[in-house]
Amino acid sequence: MKKILVTGGAGFLGSHLCERLLADGNDILCVDNFYTGSKKNVSHLMSNPHFELMRHDVTFPLYVEVDEIYNLACPASPPHYQYDPVQTTKTSVHGAINMLGLAKRVGAKILQASTSEVYGDPEVHPQKEEYWGRVNPIGIRSCYDEGKRCAETLFFDYWRQHQVEIKVARIFNTYGPRMDPNDGRVVSNFIVQALKGDPITIYGDGSQTRSFCYVNDLVDGLIKLMATHKDFTGPVNIGNPGEFTMLSLAQIIIELTNSDSQLTFKSLPQDDPKQRQPDIELARRFLNWAPNMGLQDGLKQTIQYFKEMHS
Ligand SMILES: NC(=O)c1ccc[n+]([C@@H]2O[C@H](COP(=O)([O-])OP(=O)(O)OC[C@H]3O[C@@H](n4cnc5c(N)ncnc54)[C@H](O)[C@@H]3O)[C@@H](O)[C@H]2O)c1
Repeated sequence: MKKILVTGGAGFLGSHLCERLLADGNDILCVDNFYTGSKKNVSHLMSNPHFELMRHDVTFPLYVEVDEIYNLACPASPPHYQYDPVQTTKTSVHGAINMLGLAKRVGAKILQASTSEVYGDPEVHPQKEEYWGRVNPIGIRSCYDEGKRCAETLFFDYWRQHQVEIKVARIFNTYGPRMDPNDGRVVSNFIVQALKGDPITIYGDGSQTRSFCYVNDLVDGLIKLMATHKDFTGPVNIGNPGEFTMLSLAQIIIELTNSDSQLTFKSLPQDDPKQRQPDIELARRFLNWAPNMGLQDGLKQTIQYFKEMHS
């Protein structure tokens, strides 16, 4: 039985990852400071003797014995990461240093939850891992984007300098049950607005595109990445290449919720990328991974979760 640390384990992705790793027969230490995550996300796991929840902020060192570390701790949605941008950068950078230091001390394998935001507003489409990105270093999204880029740098320096076994996943937009309804992400925003019959807010003209990966597919990709040969470090894109405009996403959600919501248009936020789509050839080849869940089916599960939440 492996002892696995999941930082940010009480968040949206982290809670699904803990659930799956437990079901696979591992011993899980879930570490979270509950900044955006909550105990409720993992309350169903608390009675399992192989699950342990610890309140801890990853910007401080942690001394535990583990075999593997999934480093997910970091607020992921713009309103949350922009609320205290200095803390956001600290979480990415100091958090990476602390978790890499832990991995080095105990000889653990460590996976970083990086992001498609490292590509910024990309000039190439779809994005391959070798593309270096186009990121504004001084804008309001930079605390997140540059924090994550610096974390990747630290991962690769610990690998080159200290031979720590690293895996870097570049996660693209992921959605599913347990998303925070108030964190401003497009899928949760649209579903909540559609269920209430409120106008659906489209930023810009709605022609900008995103790709959406269902959470179970994402978790599967992370676990497969962790299991790769020690020479495979990534970075590797994990996401669903299906590309949708914001207008078409709104339309699908209106249909699936039988809503009579209308669309309302607001100006685009600063540095909002116009296009985002992962090239997942590397994941297919080295992880033997590709997403299975189509957008309509994944949205149905997510809508069901939001309905139950509000009932
Ligand atoms: N969901 C996505 O679409 C997406 C896309 C790309 C990357 N990611 C990355 O995946 C990870 C998880 O994202 P999520 O969507 O589950 O977001 P989330 O906000 O639900 O989860 C992040 C978790 O980290 C915790 N956390 C934040 N700062 C911390 C700190 N200093 N110490 C300890 N815990 C801390 C939060 O309380 C929360 O439980 C993040 O690192 C995010 O950057 C997510």
